[in-house]
Amino acid sequence: MGAVRPSREEAFSLLMQYNKSDALIKHALAVEAVMRYCARKRGLDEQMWGVVGLIHDLDYEQFPAQHCRKTEEILTAQGWPAEYVRAVLSHGWGICTDAEPQSELEKILYTVDELTGLVTATALVRPSRSVLDMEAKSVKKKWKDKSFAAGVNRDVITRGLEMLGMELGEMIEDVIMGMREVAEEIGLKGNPEASG
Ligand SMILES: [Fe+2]
Ligand SMILES: [Fe+2]
Repeated sequence: MGAVRPSREEAFSLLMQYNKSDALIKHALAVEAVMRYCARKRGLDEQMWGVVGLIHDLDYEQFPAQHCRKTEEILTAQGWPAEYVRAVLSHGWGICTDAEPQSELEKILYTVDELTGLVTATALVRPSRSVLDMEAKSVKKKWKDKSFAAGVNRDVITRGLEMLGMELGEMIEDVIMGMREVAEEIGLKGNPEASG
């Protein structure tokens, strides 16, 4: 038990079993794509990183008050390896779990979870409503405007960047690159030809 690597198909079917919200499914797909991009860039385990990204908010729609804890229960019951479960829990560090991000995978997940939200919000106010022609500087501008997408916890992102020793600009670029790979699926293909 627990030694089998969960497949992408298995993760996706669990996601669909527990989630009906279009926004949450798109969030899961965006985080998955960014995790895959970041793993590939580092020559690390793209499959595992993607699966963890896809499943990280599994319980949020049905069990918001038990966020992370319920996912731990579900994944453990499914026989998922402890390494995957811990990685999922660590995204809620300081909020709903005490699992501090340790591995590179965990630190990236912790940081990009919120950042995908800021990138999405920024894309949606652009004339093209697209991530395909979006540059990091547009997101940086919105980062400074604290009233824009106020629900995006910038402190969490800053803490994540410190753990990683990365600059905000580089992380934003990676998030945009990852999200471009699934632009259509996450509703951010928009119309790059549209001009302001
Ligand atoms: Fe979460
Ligand atoms: Fe999330």
